[in-house]
Amino acid sequence: MGFTLDSIVPWGRSYDEYVAMFDLTTADLTRRLLGCGDGPAGFNAEHTKRGGTVVSVDPIYAFDSAQIRNRIHATYDTVMAQMRKNRSEYVWTTIASVEELGRVRMAAMNVFLSDYDLGKKDGRYLAGALPALPFERGSFDMALSSHLLFLYSTQLSAEFHIQALTAMLRVAREAKVFPLLTLDGATSPHLHGVMEHFARQGFSVAVRRVPYEFQRGGHDMLVIKPR
Ligand SMILES: C[S@@+](CC[C@H](N)C(=O)[O-])C[C@H]1O[C@@H](n2cnc3c(N)ncnc32)[C@H](O)[C@@H]1O
Repeated sequence: MGFTLDSIVPWGRSYDEYVAMFDLTTADLTRRLLGCGDGPAGFNAEHTKRGGTVVSVDPIYAFDSAQIRNRIHATYDTVMAQMRKNRSEYVWTTIASVEELGRVRMAAMNVFLSDYDLGKKDGRYLAGALPALPFERGSFDMALSSHLLFLYSTQLSAEFHIQALTAMLRVAREAKVFPLLTLDGATSPHLHGVMEHFARQGFSVAVRRVPYEFQRGGHDMLVIKPR
């Protein structure tokens, strides 16, 4: 029995992890990016500081920074306990231990928290939830989903995945999803059907290896774009 969480938790990765998970090139980083379900990740804050353009959409942005901070702290012990229990299911090279993971994740989430009020005022953190995306067609070059789609396959149906990706591909020219594994480390049961759906719609659909692996075997992203 692997990692289990009853609901989708606010838990955030760093800028460097986003760059590696989506294999973002220097050119990609100059494009208009949309992060779907970015939660308390440090990517938006750091990317903006470096001069990049990114908007993040997540239901937790309906809350203020104190409420999000409390929610992160309430989640922390549960996630750490699950990590200790399932440590053999992860690759401990870049991050050497569960304790270091806790520090790295909290550092990324603190980067987010210190940027949150400003970013919300600037419209970089928008409260919203897939599959609805409040943007015009083609507003972005690339839509990213990290640790939401496929990871939470028990909570989110195949139909939800198709609707979410359809919305991402309406507002952006390209959609990328990482990882393709569920919380317990198995390939998502929705992956095959989702790929077939978008291939039938005439999109180019590919699984690409990326230079990032933390969940053991979780080193692939899904890329969908028009042919
Ligand atoms: C595990 S966190 C991942 C955060 C970030 N993407 C990362 O990789 O560090 C999952 C996030 O998905 C958000 N979420 C849940 N349902 C969502 C939905 N329908 N649309 C967009 N985001 C959602 C949660 O609020 C949470 O912040």
